[in-house]
Amino acid sequence: QRQPIIAIDGPAGAGKSTVTKGVAQRLGLLYLDTGAMYRALTWQVLEAGINLEDEAAIAELTAHSQVQFINSPEDNNQRVLINGEDITQAIRTPRVTAQVSLVSQVRAVRQQLVAQQQRWGRKGGIVAEGRDIGTRVFPDAELKIFLTASVQERARRRLQDLQEQGIPGGNLEELELQIAERDRLDSTRKTSPLRKSPDAIEIVTDGLTIETVIEQIVQLYQKSV
Ligand code: C5P
Repeated sequence: QRQPIIAIDGPAGAGKSTVTKGVAQRLGLLYLDTGAMYRALTWQVLEAGINLEDEAAIAELTAHSQVQFINSPEDNNQRVLINGEDITQAIRTPRVTAQVSLVSQVRAVRQQLVAQQQRWGRKGGIVAEGRDIGTRVFPDAELKIFLTASVQERARRRLQDLQEQGIPGGNLEELELQIAERDRLDSTRKTSPLRKSPDAIEIVTDGLTIETVIEQIVQLYQKSV
């Protein structure tokens, strides 16, 4: 008998990370950021100079890679490591963001990462965020949330994030185009595309504060378990 699982899916920039962390903290559950895993592999593919169309080489690299998360108590934020190297900052750069959807559509990449996510979730007690959590990774999750917002709102938030992290490069129109393109790639790929699971509850976050969204999910969870 495993502990409950909350699946939070949705497109880029809908506020998933902040909301997922908040929900995990409120409910005392573990937090799993699956996007960070796809980003970590993408970073490694780029470092290795592998052509993004060379699926065989990407698959080979994936087979020899180990993504790890470490909770650092100082900053209350997770560190992301690949093969022991801390790449927490490196996976958030515009360069990785621009390429991650290409790497994450490679079947072997998805197979390996989904298997790992399922191993980590075997005992439950987690809130996992991504694109295919409710549809593919944890189809039997007790609560499924589909978090969205308009492209304009999501671009505004991304710009703010980048500015707060001191990462240069970003104007609103460009971010809107990039977000729309990532949505398109993520929702049209063959292997587990981004899609609202029929049993997921959709929350459109335009104009809602983070706190409001977290509170809504906490209440849904308390009703569902
Ligand atoms: O959530 P985040 O923006 O960090 O995700 C980065 C990318 O990783 C997504 O645009 C998508 O291509 C991929 N991803 C995925 N499946 C997941 C999580 C992320 O394909 N479960």
